[in-house]
Amino acid sequence: MARQRIALASLKGGCGKTTLAINLAAGLARSDDVGLVDADPQGTLSHWVDWSGDAALPRVIAGGDDPLQALSQAARRHGRVVVDCPPSLDMGVTGRILEKVDLVLIPVLPSPLDLWAGAGTVEAVERARRRNPALRAWLVLNQVEPASALSRAMSEALASLEIPTLPCMVRRRAAFRLAAVEGVSVFQLGARGREAAREIDRIIEEALQT
Ligand SMILES: Nc1ncnc2c1ncn2[C@@H]1O[C@H](COP(=O)(O)OP(=O)(O)OP(=O)(O)O)[C@@H](O)[C@H]1O
Ligand SMILES: [Mg+2]
Repeated sequence: MARQRIALASLKGGCGKTTLAINLAAGLARSDDVGLVDADPQGTLSHWVDWSGDAALPRVIAGGDDPLQALSQAARRHGRVVVDCPPSLDMGVTGRILEKVDLVLIPVLPSPLDLWAGAGTVEAVERARRRNPALRAWLVLNQVEPASALSRAMSEALASLEIPTLPCMVRRRAAFRLAAVEGVSVFQLGARGREAAREIDRIIEEALQT
């Protein structure tokens, strides 16, 4: 696998950036050398990993005042880098990160209102592509209610955006919250995390192994 830098980004808060960043990084770390960059001044990711002390979780490089510097440091040390971006309104930090990564995954909650609230993220990707034309981007549906189909309004809203949606989606599952509470990833939850881990593996297959 060539070197790869992956950002989890959205202007919309609470859509699952940190949850997917840590679980994807943990999934990739089973077979790769992975660094995890916490570019969010809230430091959620750093707290998660600090308090778990779990050796199976990738190393977190805290972005502090200079997340771009943390990203380049991580890229020098690790074959794969996952960056958890902040939900910043001006997209300043996120925009600069998008100029430096190969791929961005944008978690979206399955409601058109949430999708429109995050529409600025799509513009940020387009702006970043002026300097980083190779930037690949996917929307990832997160917290989809089990057993419910996407509403027609949601499917139409997704189809109207310039960025494609990954075929796989992530359901709302207790395992994702439980992993956060225990300071681990869903891969360390054994049988309790099996379905959630399978969803993370699908994202890795569909978006990251190409
Ligand atoms: N698939 C899921 N199933 C159940 N709970 C989830 C799922 N994804 C995220 N959550 C929960 O939703 C909340 C928000 O998720 P998270 O913190 O990952 O979002 P975020 O985009 O990083 O937020 P912020 O913008 O504040 O950084 C958390 O409580 C998390 O545990
Ligand atoms: Mg977060």
